[in-house]
This record gives sequence, C-alpha cells and structure tokens, in this order.
Amino acid sequence: MTITNEGARAQIGVTGLAVMGSNIARNLARHGHTVALHNRSIAKTDALIAEHGGDGDFVRTETVEEFVGALQKPRRVLIMVKAGDPTDAVIEELAAAMEPGDIIIDGGNALYTDTIRREASLRERGLHFVGAGISGGEEGALNGPSIMPGGPKESYEALGPLLESIAAQVDGTPCCTHIGPDGSGHFVKMVHNGIEYADMQLIGEAYNLFRDALGYDADKIAEVFTEWNAGDLESYLVEITAEVLKQKDAKTGKALVDVIVDAAEQKGTGRWTVKSALDLGVPVTGIAEAVFARALSGSREQRRAAVGLASGQLADKPADAAQFTEDIRQALYASKVVAYAQGFDQIAAGSAEYDWDLHPADLATIWRGGCIIRARFLNRIKEAYDENPQLPSLILAPYFRDAIETAIDSWRRVVSTATLLGIPVPAFASSLSYYDALRAERLPAALTQGQRDFFGAHTYERTDAEGKFHTLWSGDRSEVQA
Ligand code: 6PG
Repeated sequence: MTITNEGARAQIGVTGLAVMGSNIARNLARHGHTVALHNRSIAKTDALIAEHGGDGDFVRTETVEEFVGALQKPRRVLIMVKAGDPTDAVIEELAAAMEPGDIIIDGGNALYTDTIRREASLRERGLHFVGAGISGGEEGALNGPSIMPGGPKESYEALGPLLESIAAQVDGTPCCTHIGPDGSGHFVKMVHNGIEYADMQLIGEAYNLFRDALGYDADKIAEVFTEWNAGDLESYLVEITAEVLKQKDAKTGKALVDVIVDAAEQKGTGRWTVKSALDLGVPVTGIAEAVFARALSGSREQRRAAVGLASGQLADKPADAAQFTEDIRQALYASKVVAYAQGFDQIAAGSAEYDWDLHPADLATIWRGGCIIRARFLNRIKEAYDENPQLPSLILAPYFRDAIETAIDSWRRVVSTATLLGIPVPAFASSLSYYDALRAERLPAALTQGQRDFFGAHTYERTDAEGKFHTLWSGDRSEVQA
C-alpha cells in the first residue's frame, strides 16, 4: 500500500533512488518496514512507486522537510547518492532538518577518511553518522547485500536489527554486523573492493592462460570455471565468470567476451585501497597488481604502439592440458589466499592506526554471503580467525598453510610457464613472490640498509647487537654506534 504525506510513521527513509537506492528501499519494504522515499527529482520516486509499490509500505515525499517529517524518531535516513560532494550536499540538507539523536547512514562507496570527517562534524551537532559499506551490486541490494556499518555503537542498537533484516543470511547469520567507530565500515568496504579487484585479476589471468597457453575458446573455459565452482574455488566471482564466458553476442554470434574492448575501467575503490595500504605500509601486492593491470589495459595508445615488440624465444605450449588446468586451479587458489591475507593485514593495520578494534572473524562472517567476494573459503577464514584472532597472517593458519603446500609446485609451474610463453601473470607472479619473500630467512633488505647508510647515514641494525649503527663510509670505514 502506498500512502502520501501521512504523519511520522516511516521506520527509515531512503534518499537517492538510482538503482542501488531503489533496490535497498524495496528490500526494506519487502521486510515489512515502512520506507519514506526521497529523490532530488520526484520522477524517480514516482517511478519506483508505480513499478514496485506492491513491494510494501512506501511514503512518497517531495521535499527534504517532508521526508524528514515522515520519519519516526530517532529518525533513520539512508543516503544512496554518488560518493564525494553530492554526499556532503545531501548530508548538509538533512542535518539542517534533523534533530539530535537522529541517524544519517551513508550507504555509498565513500572514502573512509571522508566518513571520519563527516562523523566528527555531525557528532558535534548531536547527530549519529553511520558510514555503511554495502556490497552485492544491484541484485544484492534487492535480495540481500552484505552490510558493513561503522559509526557509534549506540546507533547500531537503533539501526542494526533493521539492517540485519535486509542483509543476506548464511546459516541463519545475517551478513551485517557493527564494524567499529567512524570510518571503519567504509574502510572495510574499501578493502573488500580491493580484494574484489585482486580476485577478478587472478581469474582474468587464469582465463588468459586457458586462452593463450592452451588455445581454449570461451565456451571451453566456461566449462572449466563451472567445474571449479563446484569445489574449493566456489564463489560468486567464479560463478559469474562462467556466465560471462558463455554469453553469445547477438550481433556477431561470437562469444561476447571476444567482442568486448579489453580495457578495464574502475571507479576508484581499488586505487583507494592501494593508496591507503601505501600509507599504512602494508604490502597488498595482489591488489596493487590488479589496479595497475586495469591501468595498463586502459593505456590503449601505448599498447597499440607496443604490439609487435620482441617476445624473445617462446616455449612450447604445455603438453599436458589436464595437468596445466589443475596447476592453474591451484595457482588461483594459492594466489587468492595471498590476496585475502594481504587484505586482512591491511584491515589489522587500519584497525591499529585508527584504534577501531576490528574483528577479522566477524568480517569473514559477513562476507560469506551477499557481497561480491562471497566465497566458500570465507568459512575457512572465519574458522582460522576464530581459532586465533591474533593470527600473524592468514597464510599461517593450518588450513591455508596446508593448502598452499599442496598448491606450491603447481603455482611455480604456472608462473614459470606463463613467463616462458610470454603471457602476463602479474598477480599470480607477485603473489608467489610475496609468499617466497614472507617465508625467506634472509631478504636483500640488508643490502638496502647498507646502501642507505652509505649515501645518507641512515643507520642500520645488526643481527648480533642492540641499537643502531653507522659505518663511516667516506672515512676509515669503521663502525660507530648511532
Ligand atoms: C560491491 C561492488 C560495488 C561496485 C564497485 C565496482 O561490493 O557491490 O564492489 O561497490 O560494483 O563500485 O568498482 P569498479 O567500478 O571500481 O570496478
């Protein structure tokens, strides 16, 4: 039933009714919540009500005042507008019309530092600001996303049950939990997206190997991914990979993937993840390679100019296709573990930096369903962190340690074969190098320290004594304690 301009009876309001906003509003209504609707242009509000009014109880509002007036107290408003300036503009308008104790939720892909700033400024005005990461795309928004709300704990008491009711559910557990203070929800969503980039790049590299090393067509590669999706690699991204590969282009009859321009775009969350990781000093090599691979793919002119550059002597294609297929599967799994391990390291570093007290097991729990990176192996990640919340790296959890031990020979074969065939595998290769570096007893960083001391007197530590030391490089080369 749709009622216009009734009193303050809506449990929540949604402003910004593009697809994500509309779908979340519908999801809320379908779960029995009365939802006040608002959009800059009323046409979108009317279209939503005309097409989906039957989903539940909506309150149509035109002005911000009317919108805010339609809400029960404490008022809860979910903003679903473009990240950046548009979000600030909407927050300002709402805040002016709201009262202390009311809650503004930003469900967009906001930069977490913006969320920290907005939360602090609204807190001063007595308002609660919740930066909520929402993952799952349009379909997830409608049928159950994964929701990562940050912000004041008190606000979660008023908001949590409502959000949990519309989130995806896995084994009876909602894919939504209070993440932590201020920007933590958007930070966690950002890292989620970074992992999403890495995962997509790794899948892309696997696809590339099937196409260029084994000469498989899209249909055949789709079959492999479908089969993989029945095993340890079961995940949303592997599932949709098979769907995309199977799709035929109506115009040419070819596989659609073969007529799509091979230049990947990005809205920026992967890039933010890497920037933040650089600041935090966390090596998220898989994510970084994925972001750079998109950038490289988009350098169309440079690529065109470089076609025909020397490849050198290339090796023969792998003789045993079945073995190579299994090698790729193992390499994908191991590299994926590295990508998640690095992402969780970044979350731990962010948590320490901002004093957020984030719980990795909780994040693995709410990423098991609804979101883009949902995957069977998130259950394993949850178990690993449940068992040891202080795990120094996911790679060290017994389950993943064993899985990598099983995969390692395949992983090395894939990276070396790809290199000998001249096929780029930046994420597979960097993940393997990361693993090798992590397990190395000695790294070349000792030499780096020596060089830094040589040209800049930056000092070094010794393996056999406490303190900092400097060698008098341009003097008699004796060592002094710094
Ligand atoms: C999600 C997605 C979602 C969106 C990204 C895509 O979790 O639902 O990550 O946030 O699809 O914006 O990002 P790119 O355009 O940067 O690939």
